[in-house]
Amino acid sequence: MADFARVSLAMMKSVHTPPGLLQLAACAPHAAPNIILAMALVVNMVLMSANAKAQTAADLYKEADLPLGEKLLRDHRCAECHIRRVGGDGTAIYRPKGRINTPGALRGMVETCNLELNLTLFPDEVTSISAVLNRDHYRFK
Ligand code: HEC
Repeated sequence: MADFARVSLAMMKSVHTPPGLLQLAACAPHAAPNIILAMALVVNMVLMSANAKAQTAADLYKEADLPLGEKLLRDHRCAECHIRRVGGDGTAIYRPKGRINTPGALRGMVETCNLELNLTLFPDEVTSISAVLNRDHYRFK
């Protein structure tokens, strides 16, 4: 009986969705219908803020290469798509008072967009992009 309980516990653990999958779904802003996107984003923000609480922007973006981040933002046409969504110069999409409220969550959002849009950015590139967005828009400490 005890063995049976152990086995079923192990099975239950193994069917838990890995956080990576949930995070992948969160860049649905870029692709999927709004309802999926809303659900995925909520899950993602909860996961990311749990991970990110302790980290300050100074820690997280310490290694950031700002000129590289600026170049990557241009090269990947981030603004063009955001402009289609919000008009202006597209920067209204960055809402420091919105769902993203920690430096870790910001980096997580850029990472999930990287995966969803298949940009194949390296981790240091994701960090550099996030650092530029933080400097110019979010201003997390
Ligand atoms: C194909 C279109 C598209 C492209 C390309 C795109 N985005 Fe987005 N992005 C969106 C949409 C749409 C949203 C907003 C989703 C919502 O709020 O419902 C968004 C939201 C974001 C947010 C969250 C803003 C906030 O504060 O809530 C960040 C950060 C972001 N994008 C970063 C990037 C970066 C960096 C790139 C380029 C590497 C990029 N995006 C390219 C469509 C795009």
